[in-house]
Amino acid sequence: MPTSIKTPEEIQSMRTACYLAAKVLDFIEPHVKVGITTGELDRLCHDYMVNVQHTIPAPLHYCPPGHTPYPSSICTSVNHQVCHGIPGSRALKNGDIVNIDITVIKDGFHGDTSRMFQVGEVGKQAQRLCAVTYEAMWLGIREVRPGNRLGDIGHAIQAFAENAGYSIVREFCGHGIGRNFHEDPQVLHYGRKGTGTLLQTGMIFTIEPMINAGRRDIRQLADGWTIVTADHSLSAQWEHTILVTDDGYEVLTLSEGAPPPP
Ligand code: MF3
Ligand code: CO
Ligand code: CO
Repeated sequence: MPTSIKTPEEIQSMRTACYLAAKVLDFIEPHVKVGITTGELDRLCHDYMVNVQHTIPAPLHYCPPGHTPYPSSICTSVNHQVCHGIPGSRALKNGDIVNIDITVIKDGFHGDTSRMFQVGEVGKQAQRLCAVTYEAMWLGIREVRPGNRLGDIGHAIQAFAENAGYSIVREFCGHGIGRNFHEDPQVLHYGRKGTGTLLQTGMIFTIEPMINAGRRDIRQLADGWTIVTADHSLSAQWEHTILVTDDGYEVLTLSEGAPPPP
C-alpha cells in the first residue's frame, strides 16, 4: 500500500490522539519508582486512559498476524528487554531502566509514543545508552522534510548510534499510523542517504529506534511478545509520532512532560 496523505481533518484528529498518548506518559512518570510492579503501571495507565481520557488502549488484545492477542494496555520493557514487554509481577529495582510505550485510540485515530524512565540511581552506562538513543531519535526527526527520503532518517540514526558503539535492532521499525495502529511506510532505523520512500507533506509516521549496548541480535520470549537482546545487553527506545509539514516536521506526541529536544 502506498503511504497515505492525511487530510487536514485527519491531521487535527491525530494531533488530539497523539497529545493524549503523551499525556499518559506525563501521568505515569511520578509512579515509576523503586518497588512498583509493571503490572501496577499497566493498571494505572489503563484506568487513566479509559476513565479519565476516554481513550482506548490500542495494545489491549491487539493481534497482528502470527501473534497471540496482546494481554495488556501498555508495553513495559525493562533493561535487556527491547520492546513489547508484557507488564506483570516484576517490581522495578534501583538502577533499572524501563521503556513505557503508550498507544491510545481517540475518535478512531491512534497516537503512539514511548519514553525511557530511570528507576532510582542508574549507572553511567545505562544513562548514556538512554541519552544516545534519545539523541538518535531526534537526529532522525530532524531529517523529516518534503523531498528527503526515509533512508535519510535511518542513516542519521544508524550513523550516530553506531559511532557511539551501539547497535540498531533491525527486526522492528517505525510505521505509518492513523486509523490503523500500523500502516505503511516502514520506517527503518538504519539505511542509506537518498534511498527509500520520498517524504511528502501530510504523511504521518513514528520514529522509534531500539538501540542495544551490545550486539543487535534479539530473541522472543515464550510469552510470544517480549523481545530481549540475545546477549542480554541493555536496550533503550524512544518513540514520537511525526507529521511531515511543508517546511519540515511537527512532532505530534509532545506534551508538557516530554524531555526537551537535545
Ligand atoms: N507501540 C508499539 C509500537 O510502537 C506496538 C506495540 S504492539 C503491542 O509500534 F501489541 F505489543 F502492544
Ligand atoms: Co510505534
Ligand atoms: Co509504540
